[in-house]
Amino acid sequence: MKMEEIKAVFLAELKQVEHSEQLSAFWTKFLGKSGEVQKLMGGIKNVPKEEKKDYGKKVNEIKNWAQSLYDEKKDEIDRLMIAARYAKEAVDVTLPAKHVVSGNLHPLTSMKYEMIDVFAGMGFDIFEGPEIEDDDHNFTRLNVLKDHPSRDMQDTFWLTEDLLLRTHTSPGQIRVMDSRKPPIKVLVPGKVYRSDSDATHSPMFSQMEGLVVDENITLCDLQGMLDQFVKAIFSEDVKTRLRPSYFPFTEPSVEVDVSCFRCGGAGCSLCKGTGWIEVLGGGIVNKKVLENCGIDSSKYSGLAFGIGIERIAMLKYGIDHMGKLFENDIEFLKQFKA
Ligand code: PHE
Repeated sequence: MKMEEIKAVFLAELKQVEHSEQLSAFWTKFLGKSGEVQKLMGGIKNVPKEEKKDYGKKVNEIKNWAQSLYDEKKDEIDRLMIAARYAKEAVDVTLPAKHVVSGNLHPLTSMKYEMIDVFAGMGFDIFEGPEIEDDDHNFTRLNVLKDHPSRDMQDTFWLTEDLLLRTHTSPGQIRVMDSRKPPIKVLVPGKVYRSDSDATHSPMFSQMEGLVVDENITLCDLQGMLDQFVKAIFSEDVKTRLRPSYFPFTEPSVEVDVSCFRCGGAGCSLCKGTGWIEVLGGGIVNKKVLENCGIDSSKYSGLAFGIGIERIAMLKYGIDHMGKLFENDIEFLKQFKA
């Protein structure tokens, strides 16, 4: 291209440049190493000697002219690019903040954790057994013999002749004693199943079994531990009371009541006017059960208890229907946000 032609093309193409990629292509075409201006420079060898000086001067002028127009354009494009980026990244600090919805633990989960915390502080660790059990673990080795009427106390969901959904966490006792030697101090939390459903019963619910086996374990140890437990869960001035009861796997067996933490024992609707609320069952592990697990009952004794987790949660939070704990009603569950 001739000089004048280059200038014209340069100006025309410069006008078209709108962003930085185009600009760098443009630079290569005109000002790069093998660009048009450089080619003009190279053309000097074909120019007669006496015109070389003049030619060189003109090419230099074009070069400087082109460079300064290019620089101007570059400034302009840089400014445009930055403005576009700023516009894109602009944040309106006056907009209202996004509402972040965070969840919370289900009341049964936090109740379970709270209970585990209390017993962990007394040195208990955790064992979890299967929810599908066999007759042996759920009944027979717990001294609930075939045809024993107490089998009917627990409305069992049978899966086969031998397999069932565990009706309590007590089979965990057998599993622990089969696999560990005393001293034993263990909690077995988990889901249990019974064919039963009303305001305070659900076909699936949760229990927390406690088992301690060592030398010289007595009912006093049971009451002492449960005293600590109810004080931690309900309130410092709550007391426990043991009432005689019957479970085939404990002898003696007790029902444990707490003094009513709402009325302080005077009598109210929560304690049905009695001043006491039943919270759990327990007792001294029946020697037969220890022996069923190969533990020398002349040397060791044990205590066991089973706590209904829903029951404790319902009492603590004043929930009147167990179903509320399983319905997943978000408005209900939100109340338990810490
Ligand atoms: N397993 C009994 C129940 O479900 C509770 C219990 C556990 C009683 C341990 C005594 C000892 O009713």
